[in-house]
Amino acid sequence: MRFDYDLCVVGGCGHVGLPLSIMFATNGKKVCIFDINDQSLQLVSAGTMPFKEQDAEPLLQQALQEGNLTLSNSPESISRSEAVVLIIGTPVDEFLNPRLRDMKRAIDMYSPYFVAGQLLVLRSTVFPGTTEFVVKSLSRAGIEIDVAFCPERIAEGHAIKELRELPQIVSSFTASGLQRAGTLFRSLTEDIVELRPAEAELAKLFTNAWRYLKFSVANQFYMIANDQGLDYYAIHHALTYKYPRAQDLPTAGFAAGPCLLKDTMQLAAHYGNSFYLGQAAMLVNEGLPGYIVRSIQKTTNLAALTVGILGMAFKAESDDTRSSLSYKLRKILEMECSEVLCTDPYVRDPGFVSAEELVRRSDLLIVGAPHHSYRDLDTAGKPVVDIWNLYAHGGLV
Ligand SMILES: NC(=O)c1ccc[n+]([C@@H]2O[C@H](COP(=O)([O-])OP(=O)(O)OC[C@H]3O[C@@H](n4cnc5c(N)ncnc54)[C@H](O)[C@@H]3O)[C@@H](O)[C@H]2O)c1
Repeated sequence: MRFDYDLCVVGGCGHVGLPLSIMFATNGKKVCIFDINDQSLQLVSAGTMPFKEQDAEPLLQQALQEGNLTLSNSPESISRSEAVVLIIGTPVDEFLNPRLRDMKRAIDMYSPYFVAGQLLVLRSTVFPGTTEFVVKSLSRAGIEIDVAFCPERIAEGHAIKELRELPQIVSSFTASGLQRAGTLFRSLTEDIVELRPAEAELAKLFTNAWRYLKFSVANQFYMIANDQGLDYYAIHHALTYKYPRAQDLPTAGFAAGPCLLKDTMQLAAHYGNSFYLGQAAMLVNEGLPGYIVRSIQKTTNLAALTVGILGMAFKAESDDTRSSLSYKLRKILEMECSEVLCTDPYVRDPGFVSAEELVRRSDLLIVGAPHHSYRDLDTAGKPVVDIWNLYAHGGLV
């Protein structure tokens, strides 16, 4: 059968789907993005990135001009594509349990559009067992397609660079699925690592849980040092300086965003809620905003003060606020202070003020996301709480 597109990326306007679509198109594939978000579809078809992603926009525009990238809001584009790459969100619910229904609903909804002989690639980070579940659902529905699970491992904001550099993990229950997924991803890199689907699912969750654990260790070390009036960053420098075995000790800061916590919680749920290290990491990382406020209150009465939060995105140089701990910090502060002000150069929110106004009106500043531009901000001698060490004092006041 002759297809119009090499691949259809379902969820192709998202943080993972869009850079991946752009890179496949840049490398010569005919890509159709299918998404249900009309606003994003409009922006992307006009050559505008709907979110910050380094170096992506010129490549997006080039791919559109060369005719390698098409946009669609109709699931019929699935039927017109040789491979279908599914990258919808896979969040945990308000009780931190994996929400399996999103993936199930997407498969049920789009099954009628699958065509015998296609390759379906699951690219979302999934709860272990999802690939097998999808294979069985399709088989029950009499749909004969190859299914592969090939997890995305980019760091948001750096996807274009990393899709050129990172090896790709591919897995499938069938030899032809494995071979076809390998061939597809070889258009990005020659570095392909094959696993069984259950191993690939764990490999992705281990990747994010490992990172989350490392951040929690740094954050707990920070608290231990800070509670004794000691400088974590002086200690961090001393122990990492020309000492190879400690190079991967992170600095302190909010470990947040759309992936690390939820994937650690997915792993915990998968392991019968007995992933003690992961759950302890959550207590430390999610407890950091509260720890900061309690530490300030040891020396400062917040009740009459206006506090300004610098940076609401979940990390530096990002406009993504999903699961950002700056919002948790704001919520805690709102209970304790006279007023809380927020600013972020990349996040549009009519309730935010400019960094300059925030400095002028606040009695105390707290760095929420260490955007580079804050390094040059005139903080007018106001006290700055800076667990990130952006201003190289690393202390809580
Ligand atoms: N954000 C990251 O840095 C990152 C990195 C690696 C893996 N992941 C994983 O990738 C997956 C996607 O994450 P994301 O950050 O790109 O999410 P996202 O919310 O940015 O993107 C999801 C996209 O899917 C679209 N969508 C949702 N339901 C759809 C449907 N039924 N049909 C068509 N389109 C639909 C949305 O409109 C959106 O554009 C998640 O499983 C996540 O854990 C994310």
